[in-house]
Amino acid sequence: MRAFQIDRYRGEIAEANVPEPIAGAHDILVRVRAAGVNQLDLKLAHGDFKALLRYDLPLTLGHEVAGVVEAIGSSVTRLAVGDEVFARPADFRIGTFAERIAIPEADVALKPATLSMVEAASLPLVALTAWQALVGRADVKPGQRVLIHGGAGGFGSVAIQLAKHLGAHVVTTASVSNAEFVRGLGADEVIDYRSQDFETLLSDVDLVIDGIGGKNVVKSLRVLRPGGLAIGIAGPPDQAFARAIGANAGLRLAITALSAKVRRQAARLGVHYSFLWVRADGAQLSEIAALIDAGILHPVVGRVFPFAQTPAALTALERGGLHGKVVVDLVD
Ligand SMILES: NC(=O)c1ccc[n+]([C@@H]2O[C@H](COP(=O)([O-])OP(=O)(O)OC[C@H]3O[C@@H](n4cnc5c(N)ncnc54)[C@H](OP(=O)(O)O)[C@@H]3O)[C@@H](O)[C@H]2O)c1
Repeated sequence: MRAFQIDRYRGEIAEANVPEPIAGAHDILVRVRAAGVNQLDLKLAHGDFKALLRYDLPLTLGHEVAGVVEAIGSSVTRLAVGDEVFARPADFRIGTFAERIAIPEADVALKPATLSMVEAASLPLVALTAWQALVGRADVKPGQRVLIHGGAGGFGSVAIQLAKHLGAHVVTTASVSNAEFVRGLGADEVIDYRSQDFETLLSDVDLVIDGIGGKNVVKSLRVLRPGGLAIGIAGPPDQAFARAIGANAGLRLAITALSAKVRRQAARLGVHYSFLWVRADGAQLSEIAALIDAGILHPVVGRVFPFAQTPAALTALERGGLHGKVVVDLVD
């Protein structure tokens, strides 16, 4: 079957003819109809995670899928051939830039009935990240002040909607050209990250979610109320993440050291920092699907590319300046 792969880090993402995937006992075989494109695909291709996630090369990229169940493993109980599904396959089970993929049943949910395949494929990874940050990690309550960086991006455009649904007062950073767009998603305050310094404008924030990384994380700590929480999704990683990926003692130390400065700074300010790495979770995805079908969460698809142009889709995401998600469409 056709797939888009890297055969070395920092090399080209190119089409390859690869063996058909085989569904294990707990897997479903999905015919891919659309695949969402994520910064994580770019970061993997660049080798940013090669010490942390030891993938074998060549590697088929792609972390989001919507498609149709073509076959099921002998122990699959929830899903049947012909079901329309969507998923963020677990790490080491990725590879949605392909005609078919075998995915553990536990990672999969029925596709929201109200969405097209392209719309559904734009959501699993970013919506699960928003859910795991806002609901799982922070347990956001009505009236809390939440700052979401990069509100016009794939993650931010869903996170704003979910934070509003939870009753938060939502502040976001975005380019000035995206200000109206993020207000339309529900943002109460918009800060132009190119001309304004959010640190001088904000205080007493309960929760910051930072997908920018670097100095932005440290600055984010300084706008929190005492006891507030900053969740980094672009790093730096912490000890809990090292444990979650089963890192050995040496790697655990190295990973923990990456966030030492941020954690020290947080302790000095009386606030908290934690890193979040999105987990595959079909049950959470079903809850998200219910919010979508209830008209509470909406997909935001910025650009769609045909399957043959998957490398161009990744380049478009890398260039930036888009609204929401880039999606690859396999329907011909
Ligand atoms: N840890 C996890 O599990 C996880 C999950 C999902 C995403 N992430 C990470 O989260 C980050 C965002 O992901 P995404 O899918 O939303 O990416 P994206 O679709 O490329 O969006 C990034 C957004 O950030 C904006 N931006 C760039 N520089 C900024 C700055 N200094 N301040 C505020 N906003 C800025 C961009 O605006 P312009 O285009 O106008 O420049 C764009 O709207 C990435 O680093 C990604 O890897 C991590």
